[in-house]
Amino acid sequence: MKGVVLAGGTGSRLYPLTRVTNKHLLPVGRYPMIFHPLMRLRRAGVTEVVLVTSPEHMGDVVNLLGSGSRLGLDLTYRVQDEPGGIAQALSLCRNFVGNDPFVVVLGDNVLGSDIGHEVKAFEQQIHEHGAGARVLLKEVHDPERYGVPEFDGDRILRVIEKPTNPPSSYSVIGIYFYDSSVFSFVDKLKPSERGELEISDVSNAYAEQGTLTHGVLTSWWGDAGTFDGLEEANKLARDLFYEELGNEGAR
Ligand code: DAU
Repeated sequence: MKGVVLAGGTGSRLYPLTRVTNKHLLPVGRYPMIFHPLMRLRRAGVTEVVLVTSPEHMGDVVNLLGSGSRLGLDLTYRVQDEPGGIAQALSLCRNFVGNDPFVVVLGDNVLGSDIGHEVKAFEQQIHEHGAGARVLLKEVHDPERYGVPEFDGDRILRVIEKPTNPPSSYSVIGIYFYDSSVFSFVDKLKPSERGELEISDVSNAYAEQGTLTHGVLTSWWGDAGTFDGLEEANKLARDLFYEELGNEGAR
């Protein structure tokens, strides 16, 4: 399975830390934030990865990661000219992905466990049903900050992006599994009120079609895109991957 890491956007919630550098290059534990999604993919056996970032920071990201070989990855890069939303960044990966199912990880998501079993669960879903998508959920105390699932029994009816009145106490975390028909859904999306193509609307297209499954994460998880999230991720991921990478890992 191929992987996609989305590391565009403005990082405006972390200004001025992100005024001259990309959010995903800020430290989380011993490594730049972007190592975390990349290492989770590698440990799940996903080594062919496309990384999307903004034109301002592409040079720094490539300087850090190069071909990806030190991390055991084969990296391809795509530029997102304007921060038009997560789903817009995803649309840039169409040619890289081709007709195969794939996994997307948001560049600011940091988690305490591997995702190999989730990759397998999605491969099984595709094997049995030929199509669909899968999202991962985590129970949180502040769901209004995230995409939140509304359930009908055990099935996700829809996902509401940053709802004022969350319909459940779960967050849809930034790891998504899709078949290649996702790109035809993205083509039909309209920008939200904040002017972005929303990833939650992509989940909703699959939910409407009845092909959206989900898993629940039991380890810790953090979205390091805010000051609180960054601080927490730094504490939780303090020594993560150090045994494996030591002071290496960069180009
Ligand atoms: O962390 C999980 C949450 O991530 C989900 O629960 C939400 O449903 C999802 O919309 C997203 O919410 P955020 O508000 O945290 O998204 P953010 O704008 O911080 O973008 C997350 C990552 O996506 C960011 O680290 C880089 C990438 N991105 C974002 C935008 C807006 C891009 O590559 N391009 C973009 O234009």
